[in-house]
Amino acid sequence: MRRWLVALAWLLLAAGGGAHAAAGTDAEDSLLPKIERALNGPCIADPATMRRHHMDLLKHQRWRTVHLGERGAAVSLERCVACHASKTSGSVAAAPGDFCVSCHAYAAVRIDCFECHASRPAAHGAVAAEARP
Ligand code: HEC
Ligand code: HEC
Ligand code: HEC
Repeated sequence: MRRWLVALAWLLLAAGGGAHAAAGTDAEDSLLPKIERALNGPCIADPATMRRHHMDLLKHQRWRTVHLGERGAAVSLERCVACHASKTSGSVAAAPGDFCVSCHAYAAVRIDCFECHASRPAAHGAVAAEARP
């Protein structure tokens, strides 16, 4: 009798859990962040590596730049911004749909990097064009 009850409990759990998981998947799909495509490519590493390791790469390079004075490395916020700025807002972190924000809002991550670092590409091109005779 006890064995039968345990089996029934598992059956109910499985059925209930299954229905729940199916509903959850639909809801999750519609809530997944819409990540805007880069303006240029390729990235400094493949996208799967970047999704998982960009924070380590950035923090590692920040340390090397600030403490060892290393400049011109491939891992640079200026470069991330140059490729990942939004076509609409011109930034990686101004509007909710912007590259860094879309994903971080979803993952409940907060970064303070753009309080000091520019979140928009430097307008070197525009300035140079204006300065031309
Ligand atoms: C030369 C342009 C370029 C540079 C520089 C660049 N990226 Fe990328 N990045 C891309 C491209 C292209 C992809 C592939 C997805 C796409 O087409 O938008 C990508 C993908 C990614 C992804 C995965 C996005 C996803 O859809 O899951 C992350 C995260 C990322 N980059 C972060 C960074 C960070 C952080 C930096 C700076 C350290 C950086 N990228 C520098 C072009 C660039
Ligand atoms: C594909 C989704 C995705 C994109 C796009 C993305 N991030 Fe992240 N980022 C994450 C996730 C998820 C974490 C948290 C990882 C963890 O806690 O282990 C994170 C964490 C970080 C952290 C560490 C935060 C901390 O508190 O330690 C930094 C720094 C960071 N991201 C920078 C950036 C920058 C800059 C960009 C835009 C150029 C960017 N990320 C774009 C998903 C993303
Ligand atoms: C209080 C201001 C400040 C904040 C906040 C800040 N940085 Fe920086 N960061 C600097 C300064 C100053 C440098 C050195 C620039 C130089 O001398 O070339 C630097 C350099 C860097 C570099 C190497 C240079 C480059 O081109 O990117 C990286 C990477 C970096 N920071 C990442 C980050 C990340 C990631 C965050 C957020 C988690 C962050 N920083 C937050 C001030 C700041």
